[in-house]
Amino acid sequence: MDKIFADNILQGKVAFVTGGATGITGGVARAFSEAGAKLAITSRKEENLIAQKQFIEENGGECFAIAADVRDYAAVENAIAETVKHYGKIDIVVNGAAGNFLCKANELSANGFATVVDIDTKGTFNVCRAAFEELKSSRGQILNISATLHYLATPMQIHVSAAKAGVDAITRNLSVEWGRYGIRVNGIAPGPIEDTEGMKRLLLPELKDKLVKRIPLQRFGRIADIENAALFLTSDAASYINGVTLVVDGGQWLLGTSLM
Ligand code: HXC
Repeated sequence: MDKIFADNILQGKVAFVTGGATGITGGVARAFSEAGAKLAITSRKEENLIAQKQFIEENGGECFAIAADVRDYAAVENAIAETVKHYGKIDIVVNGAAGNFLCKANELSANGFATVVDIDTKGTFNVCRAAFEELKSSRGQILNISATLHYLATPMQIHVSAAKAGVDAITRNLSVEWGRYGIRVNGIAPGPIEDTEGMKRLLLPELKDKLVKRIPLQRFGRIADIENAALFLTSDAASYINGVTLVVDGGQWLLGTSLM
């Protein structure tokens, strides 16, 4: 894709990205690095962190990688502290770590439901809470990756729908509570994005063609679409945007297309 933004729009910023090794937020981390930010990435999987760090550094960026499970507050606090030790500050936090699988509500175990809520919702709170003092110092910002599943109802996604509704609530609440500290809190709700773990897990191959025809823009999203939205929302171009969850889905949710 041709370059859309001016060079170095995030120059001098430090971005802490959970789930920053792979998938949508892996792309966002790379795009932030290309835009001049210094990256700190977390993931549960060490091997994914190593590959992403190598990619970013080979492309001239800086990347600090630290394994952490966002469900574990002590691990999150440690990752934030180590990032500050490494770079001296944090300007941008991206909450991208997420869990997902398809399961009918009547077959989902209580622990299955709780696991996704813990990763998505509790994990998002944990990272925001642990980063608060740093973001207050830097007058920084938060970007929460959500979904559109809960706008209507998505069968086999009760756990993720509940979890992402919670993430959207966190975005709105923190934007109101922390705006006074100069902290902007926004979100992105991606629709179906090609070449992601989420799509592989969620979209049965036989439904792919059917679904794409029902997307008003007649194509699946690309990771680059989310990268561009993330760059916009975290740049000074969005300096008066606070408490918004930007839907980036080609208009898909308006047609109520379910994954079934
Ligand atoms: C039913 C399942 C299950 C499945 C796990 N569980 N997978 N239940 N169907 N396929 C249940 C388990 O049985 C267990 O409950 C509980 O969940 C916890 O499972 P564990 O394996 O112990 O947990 P853990 O290893 O911590 O995490 C599992 C996971 C995670 C949540 C599935 O590995 C994961 O999500 N990985 C995928 C990451 C990913 O794809 N991220 C992108 C998300 S995309 P019991 O009762 O047996 O103990 C996204 C976008 C949405 O969010 C929008 C798309 C349009």
